[in-house]
This record gives sequence, structure tokens and C-alpha cells, in this order.
Amino acid sequence: MPRALVVGSQEHKELFCHFFTETHLTFDPAAIVWPEIDEDSHKCLQSLPVWNEAVATERMTTCTIQTWAPFETDPLIRHAVVLQGYEEARHAAIIQGLTQHYGIPVTIPPPPQPPADAEWAFLRMGYSECFDAFFTFALFAIARDSGFFPAPLVEKFEPVMQEEARHILFFVNWEAYRQANSALWQRPRHVWRGVLGRVAQVWQRLQSALAARGDQHFTMHGHQAINMAITPRGFLERCLAENAQRMQRYDPRLLRPRLMPSLAQALCKVLR
Ligand SMILES: [Fe+2]
Ligand SMILES: [Fe+2]
Repeated sequence: MPRALVVGSQEHKELFCHFFTETHLTFDPAAIVWPEIDEDSHKCLQSLPVWNEAVATERMTTCTIQTWAPFETDPLIRHAVVLQGYEEARHAAIIQGLTQHYGIPVTIPPPPQPPADAEWAFLRMGYSECFDAFFTFALFAIARDSGFFPAPLVEKFEPVMQEEARHILFFVNWEAYRQANSALWQRPRHVWRGVLGRVAQVWQRLQSALAARGDQHFTMHGHQAINMAITPRGFLERCLAENAQRMQRYDPRLLRPRLMPSLAQALCKVLR
């Protein structure tokens, strides 16, 4: 049984920063050899209404992280945040590479405007990733197991999925570390921003679900496009399993994202 970690300690900081930098993969998205796929798979890919949103989200995420990074005063944390920005830019490049290769039309949006409040934007982005990743891991697994995505293509996207798992693991530890080290007078503000960020995230997603039309939201439309023969409870159980499986690869002393798994567990108890 590993020794418990004091959240906010130097040891905690080194653990979550080193976990992040040491599990970073070096590869060039331009060197990815996209596999040949059959016509049906090609049509499936083209029919997914997620590509515009995916490119725009990855670019906005990159911009948010790059805007926040200079505010990090600790060099170890700043290095990890800069690395995360690099990985997000690489995600955008991978999606652009895929859509270009398979002839999927994508509207490249103008470069995003850096957020005025860098801290708030970084927090919102972190909560947003925790929310989206929880569902996306299961959608990816279902698409993989059902053959919706051909295996060679799944292989290309697996590192992207795992990078998102690393991002949310880094974020929850970063937030807890920051909270624990903030001055007493700043804590209410940090707690309030944390609560507000989570609520705003859930509210935004609820609105997306209610107004689910057009090409507006990645998680919602991914779910609709992959025609799933699965009950809501079965889907949530799959989300929990995939989340646990992706997180179990890392040091058990690191904090794990808790909000979405707890909500899903509670829902599983009331859903048939
Ligand atoms: Fe990403
Ligand atoms: Fe990410």
C-alpha cells in the first residue's frame, strides 16, 4: 500500500508534474501514416458531425493553456502546462491531418482570441475536459468494439485518448495543489471559482443537450452519430469502467477526477 500523499506538499507537486512530463509521448503528427479504409468506414467518418467542433475546441484549448502558462510562477508546473498546450496543438493538427487525408470538409475557424481572464478560462477548460473525457472514453471504446471505427484508425487515436486522461488527472491535482497553497484570504475565492466553474460546465452541457441541433457539440453529437444499442445505465457503467481503466495506469497517490464518476454512480442506482 503506497504511503499517503499530503495534498499541496512539494512531494505532491513533484509527483503530478513528473507523472505528466514523464508520460509525454514524442511523435510528429505530420508523420502519421493514415491507413487505407474501406468505403463504408469512409462514409461513416464523413457522416460524423463532430469535425468542425473538434478542431475549434482543440484550438481554443491550446490558446487557453498558452495564455495561462506565463502566469504559472513555479517552473516545474509551468513546464507541464506548456507541454499540455503543445499536446493540445498536436490534437488539432492530428484532426486536421485526418480530415485532409480522408477528404472531410472542415471549416478552419480564425485563430481564437486569448481569454481576458486567463485563470478563469483555464479552470473552465479543465472542468470541461473532465466532463467531456468521462463520456468520450466510453464513446471511443464503443466505436472501437463495434467496428464503427476501423482498427487501424483506432490505433492512431488511442494516444490522443490517453493524453486526455493525463490532462484531467493533471488538472485535478493542479487545482487541489493550488487550493492547498493559496493564502487563507484567497481560499474562498478559489473555492467559489471552483464551484462556479463546475456548475457553469454542467449548465453549458445541459443547454447543448436541450438545443442538440446543428453542429454544436462534440460529446453530444458523438453519442448521436454512433448509433448505440445500449441503455443509459449501461452507457454510464461503460463510462465508469473506461474511466477507471485509463486512470489505473498512474500512481495511485495522485488524486482522481471525482465529480463525474460520483454523479454517474448515483445515477446508476436509480436507472434501470
Ligand atoms: Fe485535446
Ligand atoms: Fe486535453
